[in-house]
Amino acid sequence: MNTASDAWKNLRHHSQDISKKTINSLFKDDPDRFEKFTANLDGLLLDYSKNLLTEDTIRLLRQLTITCGLAEHIKKMFSGERINTSENRPALHTLLRASENSPTSLANISSFKQVQTSLAKMTNFADRIRSGQCTGSTGKLFKNILHIGVGGSVIGPSMAIRALSPYSQNSIPIQFVSNIESSDLYDKISILDPETTLILVASKTFLTQETMLNAWSAKDWITQSLGNEAVGSHFAALSSNTEQTQQFGIQPEKCFDLWEWVGGRYSIWSAIGLPILISIGSDHFKQFLMGAQTVDEHFTTCPVEKNIPILLGLIGIWHRSILGYASQAIIPYDQRLELFVSHIQQIEMESNGKSVRLDGSKITTATSGVIWGETGTNAQHSFFQLLHQGSDIIPCDFLIAALSHNELPKYHETLIANCLAQSQALMQGRNLEQTKVHLRDRGLSETDVERIAPHATFVGNRPSTTIMYEKLDPKTLGMLIAIYEHKTFVQGAIWNINSFDQWGVELGKELANQLLPTLKARKTPDHLNPSTSGLIDRAKVIRKTCS
Ligand code: F6P
Repeated sequence: MNTASDAWKNLRHHSQDISKKTINSLFKDDPDRFEKFTANLDGLLLDYSKNLLTEDTIRLLRQLTITCGLAEHIKKMFSGERINTSENRPALHTLLRASENSPTSLANISSFKQVQTSLAKMTNFADRIRSGQCTGSTGKLFKNILHIGVGGSVIGPSMAIRALSPYSQNSIPIQFVSNIESSDLYDKISILDPETTLILVASKTFLTQETMLNAWSAKDWITQSLGNEAVGSHFAALSSNTEQTQQFGIQPEKCFDLWEWVGGRYSIWSAIGLPILISIGSDHFKQFLMGAQTVDEHFTTCPVEKNIPILLGLIGIWHRSILGYASQAIIPYDQRLELFVSHIQQIEMESNGKSVRLDGSKITTATSGVIWGETGTNAQHSFFQLLHQGSDIIPCDFLIAALSHNELPKYHETLIANCLAQSQALMQGRNLEQTKVHLRDRGLSETDVERIAPHATFVGNRPSTTIMYEKLDPKTLGMLIAIYEHKTFVQGAIWNINSFDQWGVELGKELANQLLPTLKARKTPDHLNPSTSGLIDRAKVIRKTCS
């Protein structure tokens, strides 16, 4: 990606022209704006009309997809080329949800067969757990499942199980442990009974420090109460490291495989999704995969102007690399999507939070911004103040279902009204004169009107995108995740980034391993920087005095 190229120059030039307009004025100028700037897919609607962009903007952004060779990048990913060049691997998560006759499956037949075999094994195990055929070492039914993992091995499953809770009625409750901070494990096992607990250890590598420490502690917890021979009955592994899972003592029939071409943050569709399958059952899990498959087909075949992931990717590039907005908020108006932002945060920030191109040269534009957010309406009462009146412009994605699973009267209309009011307020704002009229209408004295009006004025012209879907069912959740995965891919292709490695998390892991012995040593080594050694000494003193 050469940001000095005509495509980038034209966009920068265009941004100066368009900044003389407002989103409001674009709506006034074009009565068909909503129709033009929406796209549909299987009951899901993307409305991107409340962004400061025109057809010219999309045309110029489309030029970036041509100069970066997006179509070629997509072809390479789906056909299983080794696009993760720094790790020399394909990124084939789309194969995990592909149908038998899709181009991806046909191009990767042997891997496709492995996926189907693994899915059948997972389904069989999930059915046996759900039906009570598979029991603990003493013959008692499992009443709880503890899923241990970190990052992509836990965020996706915990998010999806929460999102799809209406589909997991009567299934075994699943708890998640990820942190190396001991309360995470402690708080959970202190209320569980080892005799009736199944433990899933989810780690692609089966080497990750946090996961393995938690897994070994859970093993001690099981063996102390049930003996060593209980391990086989109480543990399953979701991992590609067969050697380590066997050494841990997990029976081969309870090891669920994944492959080097499944990236951690894209592994929800693989064996890492086993707890989702246990929770919602195989028919719903198939619908979940089907949702992602629907998006894959759309992504690979639909023209740019109506292609939802490509449009989201381009809007993101417009906001980040051209208009310079440093962050992007995602606000699901759906309580059961309360963990969705964390999942997308990992997908976008771990994939595209990088500063060098595929060839190792320095990137000359801003790449992934900070992805953050919280569910509405709760967020309205915390950080929305800043979104409306703060000094930074933060584009928002609003996610809202037209239908709720619950039948409590009044709630859902109120929720939709709130969601739409926010995007409207961000866009329309309220100028000083309108604010004064509003305050006078509320009966304030002229002195108070003058005093308060500057504080109650909204500049508006703040961009947002709304995704409206029918209901948060398994298929829709699959669609939403795949949309953001492909949005991330589009941006990575335009920035010319390897979106599938994560070297940025390595250095901290290495240093933690080096520092660990110094916390136990009598003398802190001299070579450490004064801040780190000072903090180590301080921790040692407190730990010695108080233990
Ligand atoms: O810390 C980064 C990371 O490699 C993630 O990408 C991954 O999801 C997570 O760690 C867990 O890795 P594993 O599944 O091998 O334990």
